[in-house]
Amino acid sequence: MTIENDDDLQHLKVIGQIVGQTLKKMLDYVEPGMTTRELDLYGGELLKQAGARSAPQLAYGFPGFTCISLNEEAAHGVPGDRIIQAGDMINIDVSAELNGYWADTGGSAVITPGDPIKQSLCDATRLALSQAIKTAKAGAPINHIGKAIQRVAKEKGYRIIRNLCSHGVGRFIHEEPKEIPGYYNPHDKRVLHEGLVITIEPFLSTKSRSVSEAKDGWTLIAPKGNLSAQYEHTMVITQGEPLLLTAV
Ligand code: CO
Ligand code: CO
Repeated sequence: MTIENDDDLQHLKVIGQIVGQTLKKMLDYVEPGMTTRELDLYGGELLKQAGARSAPQLAYGFPGFTCISLNEEAAHGVPGDRIIQAGDMINIDVSAELNGYWADTGGSAVITPGDPIKQSLCDATRLALSQAIKTAKAGAPINHIGKAIQRVAKEKGYRIIRNLCSHGVGRFIHEEPKEIPGYYNPHDKRVLHEGLVITIEPFLSTKSRSVSEAKDGWTLIAPKGNLSAQYEHTMVITQGEPLLLTAV
């Protein structure tokens, strides 16, 4: 969506903070021995207390409140009986709706005690997000987002999962501009405009350049042994740095 008035902005700020706080609290709450379902139920309770509805559930009938992906799972992991263990790489993606406004955020972490190599993948992905955010200004080409992500991935020695993209958001979970690549596409001529609401969500990985759908019909998974990280914010494009709605 493109923000048309202050009312739009205020509503987006509210749902942005709800998903941002939920993600933060879930990352604080997670510990070895917990199942992904227990973690998801905690997140679902936080969303409910805030009056918000899970976006993947509402939009797509997803069987969980949040998406929880472990290790070779890159995104859209279905909460269930899988037990979270020390050293696991976890990604939690929280998106929700309130009063017709939608926001989307995500973050990765290594369950401690963990391998420092996994932590450096997290750090590189976080850096890719912050560098990409700096390019996202009104009038700037959309492909500068992917260019910035690609530069960081290359510098740090990681790959990009090319079939997981950033996207427009605000009045629905996935809106125009759809499929903002996490790599540089010189043929993409789209330009950002003031008030546009988008996510930026780089996916850096140790080996894989793509993920495929698992047998459960939801989880996007890479071959065994791959690790990936994702950080995501919802933001409003301005003449200067974007306004981050989901930062807490
Ligand atoms: Co997300
Ligand atoms: Co997203």
